[in-house]
Amino acid sequence: MASSSLLPPAARRLEGKVALVTGGASGIGESTVRLLCRHGARVVVADIQDDKGEALCRELGGPAVATYVHCDVTDESLVGDAVDAAVASYGTLDIAFSNAGIAGSSKPSILETTKEDFERVVAVNLTGMFLVTKHAARVMIPARRGSIVITASAASVMGGLGLYAYTSTKHALVGLCKEAAAELGQHGVRVNSVSPFFLATEMTRKGFGGEDAALEAAVEAMGNLKGVRLKAEDIAEAVLYLASDEAKYVSGHNLVVDGGFTVARTPPRK
Ligand SMILES: NC(=O)c1ccc[n+]([C@@H]2O[C@H](COP(=O)([O-])OP(=O)(O)OC[C@H]3O[C@@H](n4cnc5c(N)ncnc54)[C@H](O)[C@@H]3O)[C@@H](O)[C@H]2O)c1
Repeated sequence: MASSSLLPPAARRLEGKVALVTGGASGIGESTVRLLCRHGARVVVADIQDDKGEALCRELGGPAVATYVHCDVTDESLVGDAVDAAVASYGTLDIAFSNAGIAGSSKPSILETTKEDFERVVAVNLTGMFLVTKHAARVMIPARRGSIVITASAASVMGGLGLYAYTSTKHALVGLCKEAAAELGQHGVRVNSVSPFFLATEMTRKGFGGEDAALEAAVEAMGNLKGVRLKAEDIAEAVLYLASDEAKYVSGHNLVVDGGFTVARTPPRK
């Protein structure tokens, strides 16, 4: 787990900024909350894992730095409340990291994929991301600035990696990102997505008996880039870039963080 201590002033890339992170209690969201806070942002953590989210905010320094809100992203009124909580607590909203997502059932065959499971994944991964983008835009448009980052996946650019609902929603998020970037650019608001390869989080651990080392070894064997293991902190760094002023002219982009997996021939040429 990365250190959460505040960086010296000159190194802080988000000093004075306010962020909302959905799915912020765990995994990629939690790592990103920690990194944004290190860089001087104040963060509203929105999740359905209340104990974990509240503990994280306490550890980071409490309401002066981080505030937890219960928010199921499939519920529009709760998403609206989470955005309003950022404005009420910290005065504005500069960054929205729309990250909450689920894998759905692990059935790989279309014949075993139920309509109920498909619709549940759509509700969280697609409708939920739409609602966060919509309500972030509601406060960013009048401010004429803001950065929205959506968590897609390597499954946003290729098939055969995962599950029907998951791959379908992750492809759709690239469309959501482009449509929102096209409209919101007129208002000074940038919208991008980040697309991680497979990495160890609560979502993926189950299939490996909770063993991160076994999962990471399997990913390294399957992946293109050797000698490096992808961590949640690496995705947080990509989000930090897209959220920060270093990316001030980057919008509508899908930043794939996969060590070249989705552009390489599989199996690799000998
Ligand atoms: N781990 C991977 O290999 C991987 C790869 C590519 C993309 N992703 C994406 O990264 C994002 C974060 O996943 P993660 O890997 O950190 O998993 P994770 O399970 O550790 O984190 C997901 C978080 O989202 C929260 N969440 C789930 N449903 C929610 C809802 N309805 N409302 C609010 N919060 C909800 C969970 O409580 C959890 O804290 C997801 O969108 C996932 O699809 C993960």
